[in-house]
Amino acid sequence: MADITIKKIKDFLMRTDLNDILPSDVENSNVATLTDQETLLKSFQEQTLKVVRDFKQTFESEKRVRLELEKAYFQTIIALSKAVERRDTYTGGHAERVTRYADFTAEELGLSPESREEIKLAALLHDIGKISVPDNILSKESQLSSEEFEIMKTHPQNGVEIIKNIHLLERLIPSVLFHHESFDGSGYPHGLSKFDIPLGARIIAVVDTFDAIVSSRPYRKGKSPEAGLIELRRCAGTQFDPEIVLAFTQAWKSGKIIYRASR
Ligand SMILES: [Fe+2]
Repeated sequence: MADITIKKIKDFLMRTDLNDILPSDVENSNVATLTDQETLLKSFQEQTLKVVRDFKQTFESEKRVRLELEKAYFQTIIALSKAVERRDTYTGGHAERVTRYADFTAEELGLSPESREEIKLAALLHDIGKISVPDNILSKESQLSSEEFEIMKTHPQNGVEIIKNIHLLERLIPSVLFHHESFDGSGYPHGLSKFDIPLGARIIAVVDTFDAIVSSRPYRKGKSPEAGLIELRRCAGTQFDPEIVLAFTQAWKSGKIIYRASR
């Protein structure tokens, strides 16, 4: 009887990879009496509880580390985004506004909280690749020459080069890479069209352009939001996904988006 009990416990522990929680000399112990068996089972129970407690403690401490990492991750994203804006003094607040507009549009489209979070982060970082565009092109007040425009067009791919080695940012690559694609296939860098363009990139394309239209530059005054919405509607189906233009327009008209005119 005693042998059967020990064997059952040991078999169980072997199967659960916990075979080291019983005293090593247990097989040589004299457990012939019922009292011995009860003592052994009690010890087994206590050890098991200890393992569960240790496991819980490890889990809690890993959770704390993960939360710390996530915090550092958000701070890094914000720092990177601000680094881009600091180089182009005329677009102050652009990434922050695009992020808000993208989030309200995603909400209007009924996207999940996870998708909304991903789109927000991608919107915050969409122009991160502009870090590698020379100042004279980035801040040029007149129209870019075709050579300069070719350099400017490298920023989505440059953005990917920056974030691709950061594991937590990898999932943002499609939105960053394709945010200048057009719904009719005339955009860059790959000339994707319609629903081959990832949803996040289609959303960013709309709200990014809207903010550019309504923002003032030293050499031109920004248009009114109403004029911006008209322009989006004019380009729905060619440059933009019409469904996204509609969602952004509805979000805007609902009054949820608080508009602060740029300088
Ligand atoms: Fe861009």
